[in-house]
Amino acid sequence: MSSVPEAVSRTDSNPRAAPSSVPGAAVASPPAPRILQRMLALDDFEPQAARILPRPIFGYASGGSETNASLRANREAFGDWSFVPRVMVDVSVRSQRRTLFGQTYDAPFGFAPMGGTSLGGFDGDRVLARVAAASNIPMILSGASFTRLEDVKAVGRTAWFQGYIPGEEGAIRKLVERVAAAGYDTLVVTADVPVAANRENNVRNGYSAPLRPTLRLAWQGITHPRWLFGTALRTLYVHGMPHAENMGSTRVPLVSRVAVRERAQRDRFSWQHLALIRSLWSGKLVVKGLLSAEDARIAAGHGVDGVIVSNHGGRQLDGAVAPLRVLPEIAAAAGSMTVMMDSGVRRGTDVLKALALGAQFVFVGRPFLFANAVAGEAGVRHAVKLLREEIDRDLALVGLSSVDGLTPELLRARPR
Ligand SMILES: Cc1cc2nc3c(=O)[nH]c(=O)nc-3n(C[C@H](O)[C@H](O)[C@H](O)COP(=O)(O)O)c2cc1C
Repeated sequence: MSSVPEAVSRTDSNPRAAPSSVPGAAVASPPAPRILQRMLALDDFEPQAARILPRPIFGYASGGSETNASLRANREAFGDWSFVPRVMVDVSVRSQRRTLFGQTYDAPFGFAPMGGTSLGGFDGDRVLARVAAASNIPMILSGASFTRLEDVKAVGRTAWFQGYIPGEEGAIRKLVERVAAAGYDTLVVTADVPVAANRENNVRNGYSAPLRPTLRLAWQGITHPRWLFGTALRTLYVHGMPHAENMGSTRVPLVSRVAVRERAQRDRFSWQHLALIRSLWSGKLVVKGLLSAEDARIAAGHGVDGVIVSNHGGRQLDGAVAPLRVLPEIAAAAGSMTVMMDSGVRRGTDVLKALALGAQFVFVGRPFLFANAVAGEAGVRHAVKLLREEIDRDLALVGLSSVDGLTPELLRARPR
């Protein structure tokens, strides 16, 4: 297997990649845990994480909504496309670097925002921020995270924050001011959560936000000792009870008998609120969770800098179309906006297909949460390395020396 060093690929060398002296960047690491020898692809982390994590937490992270139709469709969509590779092209020098909003990254993928990152493994938000900095890829910090956005900003170079924006002017102003004051330069507004999704698996597995202290939950902790000691008790010892820190005016604890998560009139959030955000926020503005070309046109009309075509990893509207299917029409409607996508990306070939169909960048969610559960920071670094190696190898196999050469002509749709 060809080996691409973790931070900088064999063929790419980016002077902006974080040197190990950057505060918070990964420094000389101890030998990788042996379990990683068996993690050969991103999908290998999930079954391993299923053993380590209590059922409510694993179910929350892995599941979709209702029948999981969109969750499945996200993967199937990639299978609908095949490559027409070119041969006998000199591919001895390859680059997978991509420039987004003026910053050049060492890979065309980054970490999608995930609220439960620090439930999957100790200090998950900071772990991902450190690995992102060391690997020179972007990480989007979730607005539903359990680590204060200021604290994650202080680690590594994460500068993207995703907000669950309240449909109320005063709260919007407060949040935008806070995110700007913390030094973030890219604000991602998630648009596909006007109301909470119907995730029956959460009810079946005993997950809720906040978690209710029940005997069943305690039993799940006791029967998953590695998570109990390595994540839950360690978090309580080091940081105290986690709270949803970046959501709104109230800090809702992770575990509570009575607390209720504030939904802050999110079902009122509309394009008028986005216009307000645009007028307040001078950094890059990204809308995440679009699936319609018409919405992309409206976003462009509001001065939005980029969109993430996404169905939330199949976690919101069950039956929502797979982002890959609408990517070409959204790319055509996007004008000068940067088009990104997520949902179901697991392989280097998936990344190549998404880029060929019009995405400039992709984001990946669950596998990195699971990688942190399996082996902490080393696990996440390993997962990044696996995907980078796949992209590097796949580029050569399709006959390209750079991701910039990916076009729809390289793909054929599977006959229906
Ligand atoms: C555990 C978990 C928590 C998530 N939390 C958020 C969130 O807080 N904000 C958000 O915009 N998207 C959230 N998402 C959706 C991801 O950002 C992303 O759209 C999705 O995971 C991509 O699909 P993938 O997991 O198949 O790669 C979450 C996803 C997961 C799995």
